[in-house]
Amino acid sequence: MKFDIACIPGDGIGPEIINEAISVLNKIGEIFNHDFNFKEVLAGGIAIDKRGEALPQETLDVCKNSDAVLLGAVGGPKWDDLPGDKRPETGLLALRQELGLFANIRPVIVYKSLIEASPLRRDIVEEGIDICVVRELIGGIYFGERGRRKEGKMGEEAYDTEAYSVGEVERVARIAFEIAKKRKKKVTSVDKANVLESSRLWRSVMIKVAKDYPEVELEHMYVDNASMQLIRRPANFDVIVTTNMFGDILSDEGSMITGSIGMLPSASLAEGNYGMYEPIHGSAPDIANQNKSNPLATILSAGMMLRYSFKLEEEAKAIEKAVENVLDMNYRTEDIMSPGAKLVGTKEMGQLIITEIDKIAK
Ligand code: IPM
Ligand code: MG
Repeated sequence: MKFDIACIPGDGIGPEIINEAISVLNKIGEIFNHDFNFKEVLAGGIAIDKRGEALPQETLDVCKNSDAVLLGAVGGPKWDDLPGDKRPETGLLALRQELGLFANIRPVIVYKSLIEASPLRRDIVEEGIDICVVRELIGGIYFGERGRRKEGKMGEEAYDTEAYSVGEVERVARIAFEIAKKRKKKVTSVDKANVLESSRLWRSVMIKVAKDYPEVELEHMYVDNASMQLIRRPANFDVIVTTNMFGDILSDEGSMITGSIGMLPSASLAEGNYGMYEPIHGSAPDIANQNKSNPLATILSAGMMLRYSFKLEEEAKAIEKAVENVLDMNYRTEDIMSPGAKLVGTKEMGQLIITEIDKIAK
């Protein structure tokens, strides 16, 4: 089969890790007989430097005309002093909105060979951490009305608005329940319904959608409590579904309890099979161009692309298995290095995965 993939390397370590993901996809193409056609485009800080804006129209057009988007990372200190609406992050938010990427899927997994990396007590981690966070991505306070007014209660005032409509909640709820159906069949909906009206609507829609999935258990949890339970007993969670801002915060907490943010991929899905795939970690400008970054989160993101956008489950599993095997063989990039392990660079890690995929496919 033939697939068009828009590639956005972005800033910092972005280009290095995207390179490794592309090599891995090419290997998969060679073995399983697919034709992946990559088109590289600019977004983020590099686009600000070269085109004067974080999300050039050309980038958007190429993304819209592709089957999926693979993104490295955007942002860096160089652009931190730009006004809010000119920052690289604005380009990322516009991209999500323009492409209709309403559901952000962030698996929080601890690999057996990386248990030591978790800051949690071993007995807690050993119960197993395998959570799928489903975050609403193009609604809520991120995109609600905002502004400033002179006459606040105590001087000038700024405001951001959290608003959710029934349809927006319903479509992300369905994604969460569909995913749960294929897992441990439990959805935890996280809200703040004891205070927020938008959360009360969120909760009522979750209850309504749950009726279509009788085999899946639905539980509700306030966000403050959820942030505690994630540390206390992460094994209790299966799928977490929540709003844009709560999801932003809880998914960072989730990535921390795994201890290896350099390992975590993500998928942002639109209606149909379209999606954008990116590592959870940032652009890490301090280690850019030194062959030090961990390409595994991006490689695993490419795996999610195969699964969710291209429906190539066997190919996705080959990537995941290769990553597991290479970790079991004790190879580590600097961010997940432990005493006695074999330290490798970005390129070597990519190559190890490719060699392993070859072995798995034979
Ligand atoms: C994330 C990031 C973004 C977000 C930033 C960079 C705008 O933190 O993807 O979680 O807040 O969504
Ligand atoms: Mg975040």
